[in-house]
Amino acid sequence: MPCDLREEEEMSFIEIDESRCQKDGLCAQVCPFRLLAVEVGRSFPQAVPGAGQRCIRCGHCQAVCPHGALTLVGQEAGPVFRPEKLPDVEQLTQLVRGRRSIRVYRKKPVERRLVQRCIDLAHYAPTARNSQQIGWLVIDDKEELHRLTNHAFDWMRHLLATDDPRAEHYGVAGLIRGWEKGRDGILRQAPGLVVTFAPAGYGLGTMDSTIHLTTFELIAFSQGLGTCWAGFFQLAAADWSPLRQALALPDGQELTAAMMVGYPRLRYQRLPERRAARVVWRG
Ligand SMILES: Cc1cc2nc3c(=O)[nH]c(=O)nc-3n(C[C@H](O)[C@H](O)[C@H](O)COP(=O)(O)O)c2cc1C
Repeated sequence: MPCDLREEEEMSFIEIDESRCQKDGLCAQVCPFRLLAVEVGRSFPQAVPGAGQRCIRCGHCQAVCPHGALTLVGQEAGPVFRPEKLPDVEQLTQLVRGRRSIRVYRKKPVERRLVQRCIDLAHYAPTARNSQQIGWLVIDDKEELHRLTNHAFDWMRHLLATDDPRAEHYGVAGLIRGWEKGRDGILRQAPGLVVTFAPAGYGLGTMDSTIHLTTFELIAFSQGLGTCWAGFFQLAAADWSPLRQALALPDGQELTAAMMVGYPRLRYQRLPERRAARVVWRG
């Protein structure tokens, strides 16, 4: 009967182990879209009509349950959270304030398994509506990086030739002169470039990617790697189709952010100061 079928569909995205469920309603409280209904102390969680279609599979319902009573169908529960393993404030200070934009790299290539480890962890960064649309392209071939950088310099040459006001703003004349003498002011001769991409038209790709690469940068730093946002490269890719063609992202995907990666050649001894945060309190 159609009615039973719909009910079955709605329930099938979660499963409740009734021998474990304490009817405490925690799963219902954390659901961002209020897709579960529980009468605390009286009823087991029930999916509201249409819940299966609206669920974003964030896993909060499953993760908050202290009794392991709820299964989000088709999604692993994940490992146990251990708050005692969290870094303390001093460790976090060293991580956040000790991270530097690295512009002088060793020639040594970065082991792929190390970059992969950083990506696999950074990939847990939040995405809008848990859409998880961000893809990663890692380029670690020296000639390929040289070719791509040359395309980015062609873009700079074009800005200069067309009297584009950005030429002066970005100081492209000096950067081009440097490139001609073997200095790379775009990718800094980094042995690796990490590019993120998202489906064209997704809309929040830049925001999601920024969070992913910010997370990646901190993880990479903790693993002895150095990184630097490749802002010039990103601007060039947005503007210069030969660079986009050379990047050859998967069909329908567009570049959302880019970051250099490699082993730092130099070691910083201090945590440089920054202006105090501008905070407006209202209460
Ligand atoms: C969005 C963005 C784009 C950037 N692009 C470049 C770049 O193209 N080249 C570069 O050398 N540094 C780039 N940087 C690095 C900044 O210059 C750097 O973060 C800033 O000077 C502070 O230094 P720190 O990262 O070591 O704290 C970029 C940083 C951000 C956040």
